[in-house]
Amino acid sequence: MANKLWQKETIVNSDIERYTIGKDAEMDMYIARYDVLGSMAHAKMLESIGLLEKTDLSAILKGLKEIFNQIENDEFVIEDGVEDIHSQVEMQLGEVGKKLHSGRSRNDQVLVDLRLFSRAKLKEVVEEVYALFNSLISQSERYKNVLMPGYTHLQIAMPSSFGLWFGAYAESLLDDMQLLLSAYKVVNRNPLGSAAGYGNSFPLNRQMTTDLLGFDSMDYNVVYAQMGRGKTERIVASALASVAGTISKLAFDSCMFTNQNFGFLKLADEFTTGSSIMPHKKNPDVFELTRAKCNKIQGVPQQITMIINNLPSGYFRDLQIIKEVYLPLFDEMVDILAMTRSMIEKIKINENILDDPKYDLIFSVEEVNRLTLEGVPFRDAYKQVGMAIEKGNFTPNKTVNHTHEGSIGNLCNDKISALMEGILEEFPFEKVEEKEKELLNVI
Ligand code: ARG
Repeated sequence: MANKLWQKETIVNSDIERYTIGKDAEMDMYIARYDVLGSMAHAKMLESIGLLEKTDLSAILKGLKEIFNQIENDEFVIEDGVEDIHSQVEMQLGEVGKKLHSGRSRNDQVLVDLRLFSRAKLKEVVEEVYALFNSLISQSERYKNVLMPGYTHLQIAMPSSFGLWFGAYAESLLDDMQLLLSAYKVVNRNPLGSAAGYGNSFPLNRQMTTDLLGFDSMDYNVVYAQMGRGKTERIVASALASVAGTISKLAFDSCMFTNQNFGFLKLADEFTTGSSIMPHKKNPDVFELTRAKCNKIQGVPQQITMIINNLPSGYFRDLQIIKEVYLPLFDEMVDILAMTRSMIEKIKINENILDDPKYDLIFSVEEVNRLTLEGVPFRDAYKQVGMAIEKGNFTPNKTVNHTHEGSIGNLCNDKISALMEGILEEFPFEKVEEKEKELLNVI
């Protein structure tokens, strides 16, 4: 088939074709929309430096807009034997498409596609993380007066509360959001114009495509722009892995706390599944799957590292394989976050956990502190309470009075929320959206 951009005289062996194209027909559908946007910016820039006639530019933009609409309407396909999205778009543009590739290579095309894709998908993740954050904060506020045992070494330790428990995961998402912001900033630079990885002799206006695509700046050094392939994905995957780490721990806690021996939480029935043999079962499969999916996601940065680790600078086809582990990551993460939020919003809590005398000893430190406040030196008070426990005559006073920042009686959720808002303000979502709309506004 003479449908390779690079094909000359040699006939392509179909087995080798299948092997080298690999999963690109499927993977490139993730980035198709962004390939079109990148091409629009590139075409406008070529016209501005005299490498395209005005009429050719109009024809190209019109063709690209049609392809964009096909993609949006699920009518676009990468045809059999066509190597990738870049080839499909160029071929579909017909005769005029032949002029579009001046000054670029598929290497910088895929780079810019991945940046635009990651930018859009990070926004979806950020929105879901924020929604979950808000649910956790409101559950924390709602149950701030309900006590539960806190554990160290999985041994009962000190009084804790549902306010603390829900709020802890909210604050964990705050740190994850900081990482998502850093990843977004790394992503939001323009590699277009680096061509095969060494720039080229056309007087490209890279600032222009940077502005048209709404990037913060460009990746200036063309060799570095190419070196960013894989590194950028690893950075983004690490931020997602951090979110996944938070959710995985939350899922484990939830599975454990719904266990009958704890009985702290109860999942809404719709979130449990039954057993084919044991009629009483209501299993927390949704949290278990969440935990496993999150643990799998935490392996993705390592997978990307393994693919790029032993490569010197410059493009290699190895990089294509990263798409398989990276591109599907976002939809899975968004799905996990939405499901987790819905579970957290409907979860029921046990308000009377500490009535059970097996938790009496978590109040030992309260008693030590009470004696200390009465003037007994801490070490003596510690010993006194310890002896009472050994002798079996410790009676707990179950009122707790924790007042310092971040403790049971002073959660500081407003402070945590303010920090979150501060991070969110730094994402330039509006500017990006506006720029993409402008580009697509083809007459
Ligand atoms: N499918 C390729 C990739 O993902 C596109 C770039 C092809 N470039 C090349 N020199 N073969 O990397």
